[in-house]
Amino acid sequence: MCSLLAVKIMANTKPSNLPTSIDETLALLNGADYVADRALATVLYLSLKMNRPLFLEGEAGVGKTEIAKVLASELDRPLIRLQCYEGLDVSSAVYEWNYAAQMVEIRMREASGETNRDAMEDSVFSERFLIRRPLLQALEQVNGRAPVLLIDELDRTDEAFEAFLLEVLSDYQVTIPELGTIKAKEPPIVIITTNRTREIHDALKRRCLYHWVDYPDAERELEIVRLKVPGADANLSREVVDYVQRLRTLELFKNPGIAETLDWATALMELDKIALDPQAISDTLGVLLKYQDDIAQIQGSEGAEVLRAVKAEASANLAAAGAGVSI
Ligand SMILES: Nc1ncnc2c1ncn2[C@@H]1O[C@H](COP(=O)(O)OP(=O)(O)OP(=O)(O)O)[C@@H](O)[C@H]1O
Ligand SMILES: [Mg+2]
Repeated sequence: MCSLLAVKIMANTKPSNLPTSIDETLALLNGADYVADRALATVLYLSLKMNRPLFLEGEAGVGKTEIAKVLASELDRPLIRLQCYEGLDVSSAVYEWNYAAQMVEIRMREASGETNRDAMEDSVFSERFLIRRPLLQALEQVNGRAPVLLIDELDRTDEAFEAFLLEVLSDYQVTIPELGTIKAKEPPIVIITTNRTREIHDALKRRCLYHWVDYPDAERELEIVRLKVPGADANLSREVVDYVQRLRTLELFKNPGIAETLDWATALMELDKIALDPQAISDTLGVLLKYQDDIAQIQGSEGAEVLRAVKAEASANLAAAGAGVSI
């Protein structure tokens, strides 16, 4: 049985289609409408080049998960996603046996007079009855290429699972007692994300390249809005981005991420808005902020102050544009 598996993992490897420079990495991300800064493109390029997992930490909605999706689509590889949660165990993450099908097989063999226990065992503990979960799937090439393995929100699992993951990521192999060791012919491209609700062990981080995914600056966020919400009025998009950027400087319980900026721009566009006004903001604040205390804070004087600053900036930009100054 082990030799069968060994043959299976020796699948043909296609020539690498990985980017060969930081600029190519930036272009690859841009090609899928992902606007990255050079620091992210650099660490991503290096993690691909050095064959090391990329550990992405950052606030919610800043584009961590999206990176894995973009890589898979642009590098033409399957995306295998392991969504982490408390209590995640090996049977959900790596493999489990299909007990029901094994029972049926045993009954059928018994009914046909099978008495050889070893033959029966070999049969029910064969690949046919193995249910492959994401970590095992990620060890196998598809169409000659290693997949992209996204281990999403690792901070939600417990430390025992983290230790197990460390083992898998060290050797890219999994041992199944009844079958033997399955080793990846080519390691998958691994992206690990966390929202830092707890610290991840140093031992695991050490195996990865690390990058903190920050909120984008205004220019980059505006570019993202232009790409992702192309129907939004240019003036509205600029005001939305400016407003969100200013909100992030306040002491809110939960800052809006890029995802919320995009949702807000879409919502205001759907309401045919071409500029921010107090009523539109008040009506749509739930798209941007998800905690009542934050909403109450922004509906008060602080929100009004932010809007005043946004409008002042807009008029200054307009005046500068009128005077022929590039903005
Ligand atoms: N740099 C970017 N360029 C283009 N789109 C982006 C970028 N960053 C985020 N987005 C968009 O923002 C949305 C949220 O991104 P994503 O789900 O990857 O965030 P996240 O960091 O994984 O959040 P969470 O921690 O909540 O899972 C996606 O729809 C994505 O398209
Ligand atoms: Mg995510």
